[in-house]
Amino acid sequence: MIDKKKLPMVAFLWVAFLLVGFPVPSSHGEEYPDPGKFSGPDACGNECHKEEVAIWKETRHALTFNEMETSDKGKEIAGKMGVKRPKTDDACAFCHFTRMMVDGKAQVMAGPTCESCHGAGRDWIKTHGDYGGKDVKKADETPAHKAQRLEQSLKDGLIPPKDLYLWVRNCFSCHLGHNEKLVNVGGHTPGSNIELVSWTQGKPGKAGSMRHNVFYAKGNQPAAVERRRLIFVVGLMTEIEYGLRAIGKATQKDVFATKMARRVKTAWDKLQLVSQAIDVKEIKTILSGMKAIDKELKLNNADPLNRLSEQIKEATKVVAQGYDGKGWAALDAMIPYSP
Ligand code: HEC
Ligand code: HEC
Ligand code: HEC
Repeated sequence: MIDKKKLPMVAFLWVAFLLVGFPVPSSHGEEYPDPGKFSGPDACGNECHKEEVAIWKETRHALTFNEMETSDKGKEIAGKMGVKRPKTDDACAFCHFTRMMVDGKAQVMAGPTCESCHGAGRDWIKTHGDYGGKDVKKADETPAHKAQRLEQSLKDGLIPPKDLYLWVRNCFSCHLGHNEKLVNVGGHTPGSNIELVSWTQGKPGKAGSMRHNVFYAKGNQPAAVERRRLIFVVGLMTEIEYGLRAIGKATQKDVFATKMARRVKTAWDKLQLVSQAIDVKEIKTILSGMKAIDKELKLNNADPLNRLSEQIKEATKVVAQGYDGKGWAALDAMIPYSP
């Protein structure tokens, strides 16, 4: 029997499934993604995205491929975790490396790459680059073909840059998807100090961000101020969602749980300031449903924490799709980035 109260949720999941092909919008869910679905950065850069590939090669995402395993810290963490080769061990490879099929064998080919963020490409890469026939250029594509092409690519797993909700979650799945053992035993950082506006829009480069706004707009300019506000709010909400879930999974009162709880509390306080500055009913509803977040941030409290995390997830989706950051100038002073 399906609980009637749960029907809207079931309906939502089904729609989400139709839209993106899987209910959890991530290029890699809980399990290691299928290497057979990856084509590698060259497949993106050969003809169309040369500039993006050149930029990516200078980012930590690309550099980690040759540096992590041989770095002192890498060896130290791997040693404590009992991991012989980070490149081939799921405990590390899930976030640090991309595997793809070469001559019928799964091989580690890169760090996090285009497809780690935009979706494993095998099923969508052809459709995505076909403007209506072999000789049709992008500029000559009909609107009807474009709409159909985008819809089909999305169904086949593309995570498009325009869809904030989908890509933001994906960042956090690696940047705040750490598990207790990795942190408490391995001595890994307990999740990145990630703030989404500065991390996506900041100056590109080795130690900086990953900005590659070179396709729809030229010159790699940062996103418009309205867009940055929306990225800020969606990032903050998603940080809370992932943080809550992490605490729900924690079993020891140690670095992992303590740091996550502090982090969620800080983000929650910030969200409260956001809510005072701009009028967004989805955020107000969440905050008013939970006055004293501190009381919930404890071990053995998975059910309430997961429930709250689900509510935030739903609200984040609505905020990401339903607002455009116009009229949110009151947030500008809170955002730790300006061009
Ligand atoms: C597949 C996992 C994965 C995904 C998805 C991912 N990252 Fe990363 N990211 C990493 C890893 C691993 C590192 C650290 C690499 C290193 O330094 O060895 C990193 C490093 C970074 C850095 C450099 C940080 C520094 O200290 O210099 C930035 C910025 C960054 N990521 C931003 C993002 C953003 C924004 C997103 C989402 C759009 C994202 N990442 C998605 C795994 C990922
Ligand atoms: C849930 C995703 C995730 C997993 C799993 C993971 N890391 Fe990381 N790791 C990151 C991110 C993200 C960073 C970037 C630093 C930060 O922001 O915390 C990072 C940074 C590092 C760094 C410092 C940067 C560098 O390249 O020197 C080392 C070393 C490292 N990880 C080693 C490991 C090892 C070894 C494993 C497996 C035992 C592992 N990591 C598993 C996400 C992950
Ligand atoms: C760490 C995650 C990450 C990686 C790796 C990554 N992207 Fe992106 N990409 C994004 C995000 C996030 C945006 C949207 C940024 C925004 O809205 O400001 C984006 C935007 C884009 C855009 C639109 C840019 C524009 O001009 O508006 C294209 C095209 C693109 N990426 C292609 C690529 C290609 C090709 C690669 C591999 C070389 C790549 N991306 C690697 C996350 C990533």
